[in-house]
Amino acid sequence: MGVEDNNWNFRNWPVHTDADHPFNREVPRPDNGTARPEPARYHDPAFARAEWDKVFTKTWLLAGVVSDIPDAGDFLRFETGLESFIVVRDEDGSIKAHYNACPHRGSQLAIVDFGSVSRFTCPFHSWQFNLDGSNAKITDAETFNPKVLCHGTNLSSVRCEEVGGLIFISMSDDVPPLREYLGVLADYLELYRIDQMNVVQHKRSDWGANWKGGVDAFAEIYHLHAVHPQTQCLMDDRTQIDLYPNGISRQFVPFAQPSPRFGDQQAVNPGIQMMLRDAGIDPDSYTGTAQDTRAAVQQAKRERSAQYGLGYERFSDSQLSDSVVFSVFPNIQIGCHPEAVFLHRFEPHPTDPGQFTYDTMILFKREDIPGYAAPGWMGLAEGTDTSGATRPEIVRTGLGEPPGLGSVLDQDSELLPVVQRGAHSRGFRGPLWSEQEARLRHFHVELDRYLAGTKVWGQ
Ligand code: FES
Ligand SMILES: [Fe+2]
Repeated sequence: MGVEDNNWNFRNWPVHTDADHPFNREVPRPDNGTARPEPARYHDPAFARAEWDKVFTKTWLLAGVVSDIPDAGDFLRFETGLESFIVVRDEDGSIKAHYNACPHRGSQLAIVDFGSVSRFTCPFHSWQFNLDGSNAKITDAETFNPKVLCHGTNLSSVRCEEVGGLIFISMSDDVPPLREYLGVLADYLELYRIDQMNVVQHKRSDWGANWKGGVDAFAEIYHLHAVHPQTQCLMDDRTQIDLYPNGISRQFVPFAQPSPRFGDQQAVNPGIQMMLRDAGIDPDSYTGTAQDTRAAVQQAKRERSAQYGLGYERFSDSQLSDSVVFSVFPNIQIGCHPEAVFLHRFEPHPTDPGQFTYDTMILFKREDIPGYAAPGWMGLAEGTDTSGATRPEIVRTGLGEPPGLGSVLDQDSELLPVVQRGAHSRGFRGPLWSEQEARLRHFHVELDRYLAGTKVWGQ
């Protein structure tokens, strides 16, 4: 079955690749094998601790976006697993990152998500620090033996680099520069000009599952027909998948196009109508079928670009209509559209491998064009300020609460704890991944290299 009739290779499925374009070209697929990984990775505290020591502290982590700290003194707090960081715009315009821990007795300095300061002041004994982390003031310095202070009174800093408007930090001195780590993805991200986008929605919710359960679920659309059947009317689940070095991957999900699993391939259903409106087409005057819509959306966006100088020549047709989703190892997904970008971070819980924090931001590139908006499916709340004038608060929800992320993501939040409970069973012996789930195997193979100490950069 399967292997014998040679139908197992998902790449044999017809996918919508459009006219040949450099962005869309498939890359050679690495051999990630066929092994079945052990399920302890989803629940074993020792495995989670090893991940922290050998993965999270050894890679680049997405800390924030440049639009959140535009001016000198602006800072944001980034929390992941056991750590908290301060990411700050220095006087010279560069971005610095420090552990959020005072060198005196360890107190955190930043206890809010965002702020603007000329110096950081510790809440415990009011030591002060410059934006670059150097010590600016020690309270009652004359009461310290100089031999105590010479151990070091500055904040501990970490590496901090930016690509395309996204700020990453690394606790490791061994990881290559961010651009090298991201490879071709760095160029692709820059196409979207995320540095010119503003956060228009930011939600943070606690989910009852391992962080890799989140990564896994967001790296495949095999589950769409079962968990999110409402998406079948407007997106095709036959997709192109590309796997890059360092655990990075991408997937094109054709939008404005019903899944072949969906019954009516002709009617311009409400989902397709939403996609038409996003492209500035009035569904009432549209005469094509659902099958024609994807091409019509691409064409309309090209016309809008030509009229308003949006520069969409830099995008392939797929990039105009589809969901182009990138995975950055270890825990980031970036959904890219010319108008808006959907960032997803799956942050590990400090101690419990059965929980993670799902942090998600929508960034929007404002244009003064009638009808131009973030994609409707992103579900921005009515009345959302998309001007960039106000930075929305982070909306938090706790474990077991509906995260209020729209029907699709709320469905995921309900399902993942169910998957997590099954992963604990003595009867579950590890995942069996299809070729539709090639990004999952790519991710776990990379994870295992780090854990085994065999990671080679560029592999
Ligand atoms: S812990 Fe920061 S000044 Fe004492
Ligand atoms: Fe899902």
